[in-house]
Amino acid sequence: MKQLGNSGVKVSDQILGCWVMGGTYWGGADDKDSLEAIIKAYEGGINSFDTAYVYGRGRSERIVGEAAKSMPREEITVITKLWKTDMEKDRVIPACEDSLRRLDMDYIDVYFIHYPSDTGVPIGETMEQMMKLKESGKIRCIGLSNFNLEQMKEAVQYGEVDVIQPCYSLVWREIDRDGVLDYCIENNIGVISYSTLAQGILTGKFDENTTFPSDDGRSRAPLFQDGYYKGALKVAEQLKPFAEKYDKTIAQVAINWTMHKEGITAPIVGARNARQVEENLKASGWKLSEEDWQKIDEFSKEYAYKLPKFRNFFDATIVE
Ligand SMILES: NC(=O)c1ccc[n+]([C@@H]2O[C@H](COP(=O)([O-])OP(=O)(O)OC[C@H]3O[C@@H](n4cnc5c(N)ncnc54)[C@H](OP(=O)(O)O)[C@@H]3O)[C@@H](O)[C@H]2O)c1
Repeated sequence: MKQLGNSGVKVSDQILGCWVMGGTYWGGADDKDSLEAIIKAYEGGINSFDTAYVYGRGRSERIVGEAAKSMPREEITVITKLWKTDMEKDRVIPACEDSLRRLDMDYIDVYFIHYPSDTGVPIGETMEQMMKLKESGKIRCIGLSNFNLEQMKEAVQYGEVDVIQPCYSLVWREIDRDGVLDYCIENNIGVISYSTLAQGILTGKFDENTTFPSDDGRSRAPLFQDGYYKGALKVAEQLKPFAEKYDKTIAQVAINWTMHKEGITAPIVGARNARQVEENLKASGWKLSEEDWQKIDEFSKEYAYKLPKFRNFFDATIVE
């Protein structure tokens, strides 16, 4: 278990990502599978669950809440997020209370601002309400997700931020390059990173002929587009000898590498059913040797450090 900043909130060495359970973006989800996935994760030692209002407009939060009924509340870490439409001062507290109702809980362990505002709401306005939520005990700590360095530095002027949630994996290493990770290390801010498996690419289950239906957001995500997809698949391929050496799967090696990256508190790994959770759980409890970790780091950088700057992990528009 690792602590997030100075908060006293602790997370397990991997966190279960519950976005897919919302049913949107990922081409549908099955509630029974989702419940089984959460229970399997808890039984396997994962105590931390990451959800958000926007994951199925509350569906993922409800499922997390339902599964959590079988777990002692003080033993689990529940993470959810404030969506962009709720950042004005009169919306922050009601939005959090709606999340609490859907989760059927009295408090949220980590409440993230999901994205910086794209409608010009000053961050100080949102942070002031987040601080009120913290003072009232409705949330235990405040997080920022998808903020760049400049946006983070502005936000921390208005209240204590204990954790951030950026995208990070062997094929997406923006925070290495833009100073965010160094800033978090220097300032004791926890980092729980998302899309650890690059939405499935780093499981090795996709190939050049894989296509996604239009209701699956992967059809639009940068790494799945011509010019970038082949290189990402190659990174997965390069993990094979390491998987064989450690008698692990490619996914387990990719997760283990991320777990041991300096500055990453814990990676968030998404899963849609108990079978995937079971596989991902076996990424814990062992460690790549320093030499192998470095070798993987090198070929990962060869790909990830050469990517252009996309608007974000989900939007292939090149912004620089
Ligand atoms: N803050 C943010 O803006 C933000 C953004 C993205 C994600 N997140 C959080 O981070 C979590 C993780 O990221 P992610 O879900 O985007 O991506 P991920 O962890 O890279 O990949 C998860 C997906 O890969 C597939 N998968 C997982 N384990 C597998 C296995 N063992 N074998 C085969 N396929 C497997 C599943 O999809 P299929 O079965 O459909 O292939 C699963 O939904 C999310 O659930 C969410 O909680 C946050």
